[in-house]
Amino acid sequence: MTVKIKKCSREDLQVLQEISIETFNDTFKEQNSPENMQAYMERAFNAEQLEKELANSSSEFFFICFHEEPAGYLKVNMNDAQSEKMSDESLEIERIYIRNKFQRKGLGKYLINQAMGIAISHNKKMIWLGVWEKNENAIDFYKKMGFIQTGAHSFYMGDEEQIDLIMSRTLE
Ligand SMILES: CC(C)(COP(=O)(O)OP(=O)(O)OC[C@H]1O[C@@H](n2cnc3c(N)ncnc32)[C@H](O)[C@@H]1OP(=O)(O)O)[C@@H](O)C(=O)NCCC(=O)NCCS
Repeated sequence: MTVKIKKCSREDLQVLQEISIETFNDTFKEQNSPENMQAYMERAFNAEQLEKELANSSSEFFFICFHEEPAGYLKVNMNDAQSEKMSDESLEIERIYIRNKFQRKGLGKYLINQAMGIAISHNKKMIWLGVWEKNENAIDFYKKMGFIQTGAHSFYMGDEEQIDLIMSRTLE
């Protein structure tokens, strides 16, 4: 299979926005109200917000392409860009999304390996992420990738408070 990783820049904003909305919708629409989905997506994926995140030197976005077609994306954060107060020795996977038709082909694992490579190259000791407690598919995937639950935090989907499990994996 031909798999390529491409680091996103400002020029990729529109594709990033489209893929972010599509994958978020496909993943969460069945378990959340349309109003809460809308509120979250307007806040998280508006062009100004994504532009700001792309410009942050402590965050990196990547597309994964399968036979030249964008099949998903990864966002990692370091230092102050991490969405929880964590050590400077850790890297956060804030988003990892594979479009429906490309799932279960090894691409998610490829992106986890990409995140690990970035973490190691920055001398990080740990990778962590937050995952909604009801996203069982993702939780099973992360366990398969060697992550274990190390905490929990709340998260707002529109006006609904939800629990995210914190999962992490050391790199030593
Ligand atoms: C979760 C997600 C990133 C996994 O990516 P993927 O490309 O489908 O997974 P892969 O094909 O790379 O699977 C890697 C391994 O995990 C296993 N795996 C993947 N999904 C699994 C699941 N739901 N249950 C159990 N094992 C799973 C695979 O069998 C594979 O195992 P192997 O290495 O022994 O062959 C992808 O399904 C996705 O984008 N889901 C929707 C968005 C989402 O929930 N993102 C996370 C938000 S926190």
